[in-house]
Amino acid sequence: MFIHNPLNDSELSFPILECIHIIGFTFSLGTIAVVDFRLLDWGMPHQKPSQLYQDTAAFTLVGIIVMIFSGLLLFSSDPDMYYLNVAFDLKMVFLLLAILFNYTIHRSAVLEDAGSRRAKAVGWISLGLWSAVIFGGIFLAFINEGLSLKNLLMIR
Ligand code: HEM
Repeated sequence: MFIHNPLNDSELSFPILECIHIIGFTFSLGTIAVVDFRLLDWGMPHQKPSQLYQDTAAFTLVGIIVMIFSGLLLFSSDPDMYYLNVAFDLKMVFLLLAILFNYTIHRSAVLEDAGSRRAKAVGWISLGLWSAVIFGGIFLAFINEGLSLKNLLMIR
């Protein structure tokens, strides 16, 4: 069933949306990374992770909301191309894991100013999950159409 998408009427809407998408990720991932660097003892020795987290939590949330809305609009420009793309499928799996991790284990470790070993493990896992989301976003454009996660896992 063909649904007319006004976003596809103008050549400018996709690049503008992609710019908004990237601005969103500077707010979200930029602030999460600052807290993770503190968890890994990479600078900011005078600030507690809990203080950094509280100071940046609103920016992170706004950034994630902007990412999801701009991402859904980008996706709507050609849904068939994207959901049949293994990079997109994996990006969505890692995005769900990253958001869940961020607001559960990561949040409790940060607010407790957890001791170094736990803090470092949480910092590395967080950076790893969000990097996987970014890689998925970038490789989206380089993966052959039709190579979906379903095909790759040979799920009928
Ligand atoms: C915090 C979450 C997200 C991050 C960090 C993220 C990251 C990225 C990155 C790095 C790119 C590549 C930009 C480029 O090549 O210029 C991208 C593109 C894209 N993202 Fe996301 N994204 C997020 C959420 C979403 C969501 C929720 C969706 C859809 C439901 C989505 C759909 C897309 C689409 C369709 C593209 C365009 C790919 C293309 O160039 O054709 N993103 N994203």
